[in-house]
Amino acid sequence: MKKEKNSFGNNISFAQGETWRFNNEVAKNFDQHVVSSIPHYNAIQKYIANISEWFLTENSTIYDIGCSTSNTSYEISKKNEKIKKLNFLCIDSSKQMLEISKKKLKLLKHNYKFLKKDINKIKTFNKHDLCLCVLLLPFLKNQKKLALLKKIQKSLNSGGALLIVDKIHSDLSISENIFNQIYHDFKLNFFSKTQIWNKAKSLRSSMKLNTNSQNLELFKKSGFKRYEVFFRWFNFCGYIVFK
Ligand SMILES: C[S@@+](CC[C@H](N)C(=O)[O-])C[C@H]1O[C@@H](n2cnc3c(N)ncnc32)[C@H](O)[C@@H]1O
Repeated sequence: MKKEKNSFGNNISFAQGETWRFNNEVAKNFDQHVVSSIPHYNAIQKYIANISEWFLTENSTIYDIGCSTSNTSYEISKKNEKIKKLNFLCIDSSKQMLEISKKKLKLLKHNYKFLKKDINKIKTFNKHDLCLCVLLLPFLKNQKKLALLKKIQKSLNSGGALLIVDKIHSDLSISENIFNQIYHDFKLNFFSKTQIWNKAKSLRSSMKLNTNSQNLELFKKSGFKRYEVFFRWFNFCGYIVFK
């Protein structure tokens, strides 16, 4: 017997009890879904593109890890149009996300490579100047987050930066409750209560969130010494981590 489908909005549905995955249906509808799910998503992409100007020169390399449909690389490439040669490596475990990325970035003029791979299975990275981890960390287990950041720390060129956007837990339970309710109110602008509940249930075992203090500890443990918050909206946090 076929399991009943639960709607998540934006033409995305999963079978009852199914865990959230970045499957073809999600990839196809990702650009629409992400702006309704992540507060200030478009603004965050622009802020990252603004910051990128401090780290990119002729022939710089950018790693976009967990790139999805490569909106961040797209904004960075547009922002740095005056630089003749930039090399982007867009990595994601979803083939469909990378197909959409290819179509999007084809319109721009820099060099783009695409790698379909589980990031946990890549042993070392080549040298690069700017690394992007936008909304990827929630989907990695804690030990894998540390392993990834260590690899980035080793391979970033001196003077380079890692830009992270993360969904976090509050350090205080009182603010966790307030911030979660505010986030819930934000989503009600786009989704029904049932759709919000369906997605929350499907994410139960696939998201592992850190607190801000845990993230700062993670940066230290991976060998980074200097970091700053560049964005904060309740439980969403953007970090610039300097090499
Ligand atoms: C929330 S999306 C990232 C959003 C994207 N960075 C942006 O700015 O629009 C998370 C992405 O990470 C990818 N992902 C999750 N786990 C991964 C892994 N272990 N290796 C590679 N990609 C992964 C998913 O396929 C998905 O496309």
